[in-house]
Amino acid sequence: MKKILDCIADAIKPAFTANGYDESYAKVTLSNRPDLCEYQCNGAMAAAKAYKKKPIDIANDVAGWIEKSPDRGMFSQITAVMPGFINMRLSQEYLADYLHAMDTEPKYGLEETGSGETVIVDYGGANVAKPLHVGHLRSAIIGESIKRLGRFLGYNMIGDVHLGDWGLQMGLIIEELRDREPDLIYFDPDCSGPYPEKPPFTIGQLEDIYPAASSKAKEDENFKARAQEATLQLQNGYEPYRAVWQHIMNVSLADLKKNYKSLEVTFDLWKGESDAQEYIPGLIEDLQKKGLAYESQGALVVDVAKEGDSKELPPCIIRKSDGAALYATSDLGTILDREKTYAPAKYIYITDKRQELHFIQVFRVAKKAGYVSEDTPMVHLMFGTMNGKDGKPFKTREGGVMRLENLVAEINDAVYDRIMENRTVSDEEARKTAGIIGLAALKYGDLSNQASKDYVFDMERFISFEGNTGPYILYTIVRIKSILSKYESMGEKLPENARVLAAASEAEKNLMLQLTKYHEVIESSFQETAPHKICQFIYELSDVFNKFYNNTMILKEEDKARQAGYIKLITLTKGVLETCIDLLGFAAPERM
Ligand code: ARG
Repeated sequence: MKKILDCIADAIKPAFTANGYDESYAKVTLSNRPDLCEYQCNGAMAAAKAYKKKPIDIANDVAGWIEKSPDRGMFSQITAVMPGFINMRLSQEYLADYLHAMDTEPKYGLEETGSGETVIVDYGGANVAKPLHVGHLRSAIIGESIKRLGRFLGYNMIGDVHLGDWGLQMGLIIEELRDREPDLIYFDPDCSGPYPEKPPFTIGQLEDIYPAASSKAKEDENFKARAQEATLQLQNGYEPYRAVWQHIMNVSLADLKKNYKSLEVTFDLWKGESDAQEYIPGLIEDLQKKGLAYESQGALVVDVAKEGDSKELPPCIIRKSDGAALYATSDLGTILDREKTYAPAKYIYITDKRQELHFIQVFRVAKKAGYVSEDTPMVHLMFGTMNGKDGKPFKTREGGVMRLENLVAEINDAVYDRIMENRTVSDEEARKTAGIIGLAALKYGDLSNQASKDYVFDMERFISFEGNTGPYILYTIVRIKSILSKYESMGEKLPENARVLAAASEAEKNLMLQLTKYHEVIESSFQETAPHKICQFIYELSDVFNKFYNNTMILKEEDKARQAGYIKLITLTKGVLETCIDLLGFAAPERM
């Protein structure tokens, strides 16, 4: 269905044209003076210049015309005020009809603007065998939400985890393994397989091997050189190392999948940098043939700078002097793969800000070489850092790198303690509920900030049931669920023809007005890759709902038709809230 602002604009357009003004001036926005009106049109000011008239005269022409038109019933107020604003309020009946329409349409009347277009969302980005850090956490949370949003709008969203599975960490692990267990078959130069199926390490051992190797490489030049050489050999397809690599992948992937599952983050594709490998020789050859790649100080590079750039952009390095492929090379190879398989209409990559230059370079090379068409949007959604209360990148209490499981467990424990403080639910239920609320606290705490900004991970605040938090939203949903179940247990049944009625109070009207913003919010959150807009919307929605609730005796209402209207309205509110939190990637419990 049409968005509310468009409905109002369409209603006042004829008033502009009938008076000889172009209909493009009939633009309607939410009022910035809610004390004076709900909506406003500033078109008369703009039109004044074009028609050489006083803005107030134009505003009067428009408002006066509406006064006499059949659309007058849409408004409870439409007035021209100095210097030329048109101020409007919707009539209670029109608003009730609009909500009734929302209530009866699939997805509450949201238009599926995506119409099946394919969009690749590249998020998660975990590095195999390395610990997940907060950047990976943010990427997973934001990406999951963007994917769900796009899918809801009718896009064919393809989420790819794009694992870092081809870098130096692999060579480091191979060499560390050699130092620890030189007799393993993989290190026997004369052996030509077959290699054992069982990995020579567990996830626990792997978690010890990588950090040990990584710090060794920092002190020991020779070890580092060995690791680089092993990485290169792996990339060139040396069988024994491929076998070790497969072991690392198997062990590590099982662990990663468990981690993502606990965050309710899912991927359509579990591809990685290694999958780009087969494209790289052809890619390099093609870039050379097109005259784009050239030798510079032993490396192969492509210029990406353009006239009008505000900063000087260094060329993109495609191949290092030692022959190793780079991060950018594998991203370009991945683009070739995606173009071949999906020919996406849009790309969205989600990583932290520090990768800004990398993606500018990759996008420019992809377009310059014609791999991606010039008008295909390639979006890099950059996020800021999750900081601790000290303002520095978040660390554990012991000062170490965060382990995702521990972070999640810490939040769940804190929520659990809170539930047990004042409630006597079974331990089992409290645990389950704590898991649901904890996830909401974590995700909402992240998503409610504009992604590009840094934010402070403040557990106390995130798990609070009051304020702009995930638990507050859940609390509101649970409150509605409880009213609905009381209504039912009173033996009440909703009549067939029950519907949202014209508001009987200001609090009720405010709730209704807030609900009408839903379509616009969902659409713009996706267009602007900005899930925080959904958070802001449901926070305000929860607030106006709770004011309405405090102001209205829903269950004691004696007028049964009015009561049924309330039930319809709060059911719609619950549905919209639940839809939105699902798009953010979490759900509400039955009780809390
Ligand atoms: N693995 C990378 C990292 O940890 C993130 C991958 C992002 N996606 C991409 N296509 N480059 O920083």
